[in-house]
Amino acid sequence: MFKDNIFENTTIFITGGGSGLGKSMAEKLSGLGANIIIASRNLERLSQTAREITGRTGREVLALEHDVRNYRQLKHVLKEGIEHFGKIDALINNAAGNFISPTEKLSYKAFDTIVDIVLRGTYYTTLAFGKYWIKESIKGTILNIVTTYASTGSGYVVPSSISKAGVLNLTRSLAAEWGKHNIRLNAIAPGLFPTQGAWERLFPDERFIQKMTERIPLKRIGRHEELTHLAAYLLSPYSAYMTGEVITIDGGEWLAGAGEFNFLEELTTDDWDEWKKKGRR
Ligand code: HXC
Ligand code: NAP
Repeated sequence: MFKDNIFENTTIFITGGGSGLGKSMAEKLSGLGANIIIASRNLERLSQTAREITGRTGREVLALEHDVRNYRQLKHVLKEGIEHFGKIDALINNAAGNFISPTEKLSYKAFDTIVDIVLRGTYYTTLAFGKYWIKESIKGTILNIVTTYASTGSGYVVPSSISKAGVLNLTRSLAAEWGKHNIRLNAIAPGLFPTQGAWERLFPDERFIQKMTERIPLKRIGRHEELTHLAAYLLSPYSAYMTGEVITIDGGEWLAGAGEFNFLEELTTDDWDEWKKKGRR
């Protein structure tokens, strides 16, 4: 689908790139020629990921310890990345925290923790990169990883939901404001993609996943490469005229939940025959 060297001479900074979808995107983009920086709290896991990816793609991956809630630390991390690779061209805001809980059972600190990682962490990182790119006249590209409930809202993940909604709004707001600086921002809203981080925290019981998968029109969860191809497209020059957009990749899940009559999928052929007769009376 892409030329192998499409990201040659391009450096991409990925928050939370040591695990899950961040790791998969790092590997895909490295395979397409990018220099990669992965940054998060767990340096040991990041370094292991960096070694693994370099072993497979032959490209350098720099692992930097960073908590997205710490703006001061970010300034050092950014400086280190720039000194190492010369410049940084793109940012993926992928780091997140989440758990499921009835909202009234949450402490205010639990709420703060998720909002601070997901929303504050994203605007801190975006702000620091925006300042850098505008000062240096670099055509930067940002990809924000949100969720389908950033648009729909969802119970039981409310701190995450309101934060992702903020990130989606940030994507659209800054696309309008920073277009004049040649900075593009887009977002991906993934449905269900298997990762240890999400599965451990959100689906403690295997039956959850089964139930959720049944609701998906395509009747399966996503494959990482389906998301990483989309990420590569949104960061590449192929999407140069696209900004402020969010692309959902969820096998039709949210639409199936929203459509008023979609529950009729439960009906059997006999039910339909019976209904047809009744409807014609
Ligand atoms: C309720 C909880 C909780 C839980 C922690 N807290 N876990 N409350 N239910 N399961 C509360 C704590 O009691 C504490 O409040 C406060 O939150 C902070 O907890 P810490 O453990 O000190 O926070 P921290 O060490 O910063 O860890 C952050 C974390 C952790 C979010 C709690 O889970 C984490 O590091 N997550 C990162 C990875 C992650 O979450 N990945 C999943 C992304 S999936 P008190 O009041 O006691 O001090 C995703 C996709 C969603 O976003 C869509 C899927 C379809
Ligand atoms: P994951 O593996 O748990 O990824 C979350 C990453 O965020 C981890 O690498 C973690 O690294 C990092 N992180 C957490 N707190 C951080 C902090 N304070 N500072 C820096 N980094 C931090 O889960 P995932 O499923 O791959 O999630 C990746 C992204 O996809 C998230 O934005 C998530 O909301 C989104 N998403 C996932 C799904 C899904 O089905 N998997 C669906 C919709 C959206 P450290 O622990 O090292 O800090």
